[in-house]
Amino acid sequence: MIKVGIVGGTGYTGAELLRLLARHPQARVEVLTSRQEIGKRADALFPHLRGFCDVVYSAPDVATLKSCDAVFFATPHGTAMQMAQELVDAGVKVIDLSADFRLKDTQQFTRWYKHAHSAPALLREAVYGLPEIHRDEIRAARVIGNPGCHATATQLALLPLLAARAVETDTLIADSKTGISGGGRELRLGFMFSEASQTLTAYGVSGHRHQAEIDQELSAVAGATVGVTFVPHLTPMIRGIHVTAYARLLNPELDLQNLFEQHYRGEPFVDVLPAGEYPETRSVKGANICRIAVQKAPNGRTAVVLSVIDNLVKGASGQALQCFNLMFGLPETSGLDAPPLAP
Ligand SMILES: NC(=O)c1ccc[n+]([C@@H]2O[C@H](COP(=O)([O-])OP(=O)(O)OC[C@H]3O[C@@H](n4cnc5c(N)ncnc54)[C@H](OP(=O)(O)O)[C@@H]3O)[C@@H](O)[C@H]2O)c1
Repeated sequence: MIKVGIVGGTGYTGAELLRLLARHPQARVEVLTSRQEIGKRADALFPHLRGFCDVVYSAPDVATLKSCDAVFFATPHGTAMQMAQELVDAGVKVIDLSADFRLKDTQQFTRWYKHAHSAPALLREAVYGLPEIHRDEIRAARVIGNPGCHATATQLALLPLLAARAVETDTLIADSKTGISGGGRELRLGFMFSEASQTLTAYGVSGHRHQAEIDQELSAVAGATVGVTFVPHLTPMIRGIHVTAYARLLNPELDLQNLFEQHYRGEPFVDVLPAGEYPETRSVKGANICRIAVQKAPNGRTAVVLSVIDNLVKGASGQALQCFNLMFGLPETSGLDAPPLAP
């Protein structure tokens, strides 16, 4: 069994890792950290895990985490970069769900995250954990910067168009809607039921942090600096991301359905819907799946791509586990093959 540690085991993505790893045939969670709940069993905090895991919280401590083969950081940004180098030096593979290892450029990191990066060498080495772009590099990686949730749904929507050089690169638009669990489990006024239900609001219009990784990755795919207008919205659902992306076609005759089907052929976790269908967020709830549909707008010049994921699964913990499987040479779908929940 591969020994796994999770730093940040009381949060939403940490709990989701516990749920997914409980069914993983070759991994076992040996170390689970919390600063607040030391000595408590995880299933006391998360009753849905009763009978599936008996791990007890301990303090986040590098010496203890070094006994693991892999450590997931399900923590706010700024935490993984403090501990990762020592773990990697000890031969532990690190998968960080925060933004600490996503951006290649330390100046970009400081611009968006407002503090200096404390492990720039490791940042240079880290691989951006989107298997649909970086599968082979992930296999060989020691450190993964797991993508953001909006960023995952947006990139998977635009990737086939940019890889095929089929669209203008400077007029891309990604309108993204997220569920409230995207904000984490920490108590915050704006995420209370009475504040966030029955309403819809945009945020981060003048600059959301996921913009930086979207620009970085899609520019590399396009071979040119892309211009993406990315606007996230908070919606009153618990899980889910829905991105509607718009791109101006260079050739209005292009067969978009065929392009998307060919691009994602063989991808285990991207489902291109039949022409004319609309993906719903609830159709991916609890599963590591991105469902995508593509159509042309009535003007015939604009590709409209609809992309849905569960923010906690393909948008976070599921994708992290997908990277873990690749890093350990396991079948990519290990622990990730359960169908979504409905309704
Ligand atoms: N929620 C999502 O949909 C989503 C999607 C993609 C990526 N992410 C990213 O994933 C990370 C975790 O998100 P989340 O939603 O799970 O957050 P969360 O629910 O707020 O949980 C954060 C966890 O981090 C721990 N923690 C906080 N500060 C720490 C520190 N200095 N040292 C060690 N542990 C610390 C907390 O545990 P204790 O306080 O008990 O120690 C808690 O378990 C974030 O970086 C987030 O941006 C989240």
